[in-house]
Amino acid sequence: MATDIQAAQDVRSVVEAAVAKCGATREDLIPILTEINQKLGYLPPESFNEVSRLLRMPVGQLFSVASFYQMLSTKPRGRHLIQFCESAPCHVVGGREVWQALQDELKLDPGATSADGKWTLRTTSCLGVCAVGPVVTVDEDIYGNVTPNQIAEILARYA
Ligand code: FES
Repeated sequence: MATDIQAAQDVRSVVEAAVAKCGATREDLIPILTEINQKLGYLPPESFNEVSRLLRMPVGQLFSVASFYQMLSTKPRGRHLIQFCESAPCHVVGGREVWQALQDELKLDPGATSADGKWTLRTTSCLGVCAVGPVVTVDEDIYGNVTPNQIAEILARYA
């Protein structure tokens, strides 16, 4: 019970700090949610309640916004987010083999997070850099012309 109270206080202080940093208007919503997401790793339900209270916006509206943006997550995710482009231009230049290598290396299904909380693996649609497909991103880093045998080396950079 004490842990739950502490967790709720932690969320509240993170939200208050995000609002203090980014502003307290509806126009500041995306930066606020991004800041909270970065600090907590995702947007827990309590964070929506706090943002709702401070910005006077309905929780449902906040949840809709958070669900729309890929960089925001309403579920816990790993410390590193790996995204694989599954759109056709990447697919036809070897994307399928790269995707298989990612799953084999991480032993994760699409959308899953590793038991140690390090990785979340998911697919995404075109990232706008089709000329260098297949494309994989890890957090803010973009890797192009990826081959299956590069996967282990790329992941090792985040050890
Ligand atoms: S199709 Fe993969 S980046 Fe565009």
